[in-house]
Amino acid sequence: MAKIINVGVLTSGGDAPGMNAAIRAVTRMAIYHGLKVYGIRHGYHGMIHDQIREIKSHHVSNIIQRGGTILKTARSDEFRTVEGRAKAYENLKRNNIDALVVIGGDGSLTGARLLSEEHDIPCVGVPGTIDNDLYGTDYTIGYDTAINTAMEAVDKIRDTASAHNRLFFVEVMGRDAGFIALRTGIASGAEAILIPERETPSDKLKIFLEEGFKRKKTSGIIIVAEGEKEGGAYEIANKVAEDFKEYDVKVTVLGHIQRGGSPSAYDRVTASQLGAAAIDALLDDQKSVMVGIVNKKIVHVPFNKTIKSRKPINEDLLELAEILSI
Ligand code: F6P
Repeated sequence: MAKIINVGVLTSGGDAPGMNAAIRAVTRMAIYHGLKVYGIRHGYHGMIHDQIREIKSHHVSNIIQRGGTILKTARSDEFRTVEGRAKAYENLKRNNIDALVVIGGDGSLTGARLLSEEHDIPCVGVPGTIDNDLYGTDYTIGYDTAINTAMEAVDKIRDTASAHNRLFFVEVMGRDAGFIALRTGIASGAEAILIPERETPSDKLKIFLEEGFKRKKTSGIIIVAEGEKEGGAYEIANKVAEDFKEYDVKVTVLGHIQRGGSPSAYDRVTASQLGAAAIDALLDDQKSVMVGIVNKKIVHVPFNKTIKSRKPINEDLLELAEILSI
């Protein structure tokens, strides 16, 4: 493979706390090895529209503690087309970029895979999404901060639930994955957790709630993943409220507060390790792989594998949640 001199870096898809720590690590690790780094703003959109500038070490000072992404991010429909990717590649060549680090979720890594298949550019992915739904890595950047944010919000909601004897349905993010819901639910002692990976018919939920109230529970928290098959939190809450007029049912959708804020120590450290590992991987002639962390060790997972496989939910944790919520 040709010697790498100039590396491009971008963030793509939903922002996640810790992305800045990853950009910093990619930049400084590359500079440490004598490479030049080019920041591509607004993800693939910026690659197509030539929003590419060199980043020096001082440009990434004082960003490790900041949420969002200094490079900005976007979801680009144009990049989903062969023509869009060809245009993007032309801009990479014009800027003499000979390798790419893509920080993002499965859509972003799919884009990187297609780009490297169609054009001669080695790409390495860094898992950055609050959803933690990428196969081949235990954690994705942003997940730890997001579950802590969600947990703190649920703690506050529980105060009201308990004071008014209310049943709250709290919807958390996760597109079509229940990882945020499961951890938030366990950490906040939720009465039930509804996730897309396991169907919980509303009838079963009603029986479960009835039993809880018989055992003198006076309030409750149900965590609903946004991708839950029975519908969103409002839909499920309505079904339950129809049958149980005595329940004072409320719904809270946590939404984008889960994506913002200063990253946790765990996210900052993990992002630093993964960003640095991406440069190591490129210098080691690797391409079309995502760097990940499994059992606290850096791993390299082919794009094809991480994109095409579904990360399994931890069944033991799910069972534990059910037992502890009786
Ligand atoms: O992938 C991260 C995520 O926050 C999902 O949990 C959510 O479904 C989606 O992004 C929301 O995207 P947007 O901010 O574009 O509405």
